[in-house]
Amino acid sequence: MKIKEAFKYGNRSEIEYILEKLLNKDKMFLHLNLDYEFDEKEFLNIINLRKKEYPLEYIFNEAWFYGEKFYIKEGVLVPRDDTEPLIDVVLKELKDYVNLKPTIAEIGVGSGIISITLAKKIKANFIATDINPIALEVTKKNMQIHKVDIKLYLTNLLDNVDEKIDIIISNPPYVEEEWEYEALKYEPKEALFTKDNGTYLLKQIVKEAIKREVKMLVCEMGYNQKNLMKQFFEENNLNDFYFYKDLSGNDRGFVIKFQN
Ligand SMILES: C[S@@+](CC[C@H](N)C(=O)[O-])C[C@H]1O[C@@H](n2cnc3c(N)ncnc32)[C@H](O)[C@@H]1O
Repeated sequence: MKIKEAFKYGNRSEIEYILEKLLNKDKMFLHLNLDYEFDEKEFLNIINLRKKEYPLEYIFNEAWFYGEKFYIKEGVLVPRDDTEPLIDVVLKELKDYVNLKPTIAEIGVGSGIISITLAKKIKANFIATDINPIALEVTKKNMQIHKVDIKLYLTNLLDNVDEKIDIIISNPPYVEEEWEYEALKYEPKEALFTKDNGTYLLKQIVKEAIKREVKMLVCEMGYNQKNLMKQFFEENNLNDFYFYKDLSGNDRGFVIKFQN
């Protein structure tokens, strides 16, 4: 197949990315050599996977988050741009704590993108948990790539974590169990879905933050969960909180500060 024919198989930037990877050439080469012939077998295999919405990130074992490249593989949630505002919020809020070298615990570390991005930017002790052993394996690999240190636990929430924690952060599963969406079918169910309109784990994490007497909790949530969470905060006598939005203006997370 010629490069110019390959472009008929999908959107331009995706085909460019696939060809750059397969041919080990840059964009400039692709556009200056449109008649260049290559073996189409692997290319067409990838196009078939993409037709079935199989994530491109799993095909090439890489994903970008907050301007950095991370290793990823099937079995672990693909990092989402939607999570970048959480980093901005944590960095803004942490200005008050940075001199204290706080202990920050992430619940549900996945590929490690959140804790690793933060560990590269601030001085803190990092702890992270996940119930998925493949997630911890991928996080370890990303820790080596990015040269940061995070203490990892294979556990539910913060069970068996004895350290005194100052700040909890989390992007937990928050999609309603009944919700079905084709593009999510290749990603691990326990990374996405939970009960109670998708708020079960968010509420568990708030309870954990109260129990552990942390100073602050920052969580990502679904765009339609603000009222449910607000009601829960009020039922638990929490009054120092706010919700933050993503770049499209949707409510996407919350910060709770505790008087501890
Ligand atoms: C939405 S993913 C987020 C992954 C990663 N932090 C990110 O932002 O891409 C949620 C993660 O929480 C983990 N998880 C689900 N239930 C958990 C629990 N009860 N305790 C700890 N981790 C959990 C999943 O395995 C998954 O890796």
